[in-house]
Amino acid sequence: MTQGNRIVVILGSIREGRINDRVAAWVTAQLAGHGFEPEILDPADPELLQVQTGDPQAIRRLCARMDGADGFVIVTPEYNHAEPGHLKTLIDSVTAQWWARPVGLVGYGGISGGLRAIEALRVILAELHTVTIRDTLSFASPWRRFDELGRLTDPDDRAAAEAAMAVFAHRLRWWTDTLADARVARPYDRPEPEKSEG
Ligand SMILES: Cc1cc2nc3c(=O)[nH]c(=O)nc-3n(C[C@H](O)[C@H](O)[C@H](O)COP(=O)(O)O)c2cc1C
Repeated sequence: MTQGNRIVVILGSIREGRINDRVAAWVTAQLAGHGFEPEILDPADPELLQVQTGDPQAIRRLCARMDGADGFVIVTPEYNHAEPGHLKTLIDSVTAQWWARPVGLVGYGGISGGLRAIEALRVILAELHTVTIRDTLSFASPWRRFDELGRLTDPDDRAAAEAAMAVFAHRLRWWTDTLADARVARPYDRPEPEKSEG
């Protein structure tokens, strides 16, 4: 069985002063602890920012960063009961890089803990031929919970989050390995166009 280790962790926020970095730092450290090789993809990176206006070079750079990933984890805030608009634009800017890949979803926000953003993303990601992992991670009021370095400060909170992450990582491992094998056995491509009759 192939091991699908390369996970691209996509940040959901480009807001100045965003809390996203803290949550993503915790997520990447945890994924590494579970044997994955996480890489951060930051939509606010100056090389990627112009994906937002459809710049072809920026989109090519985005595709190159996502090429060959075994899976993705999106770490997103909730804005008005959904994912941030620029995250949607980033997702929409890529096609084949998503296909037949698992996507894990981590949300955060106010009282919602980002759960509505997570559920909104499932619908979008299904359209892009991904499999979203059923188990998710959710953090309400992360500004009270993570320090500047992305560490959960309360021991009970930390233990609960690590237990949830163990389940999340276990499911992500199953899907990354299974789909890595499946893509080798049979490329995920488009069906042959139907032949027109006489
Ligand atoms: C425009 C906007 C809309 C928001 N809407 C929601 C919401 O619907 N539900 C929620 O729980 N939190 C909501 N929040 C709170 C954010 O999820 C919270 O501030 C989060 O820390 C933002 O992530 P960021 O700092 O990484 O950008 C909203 C914040 C903003 C800026």
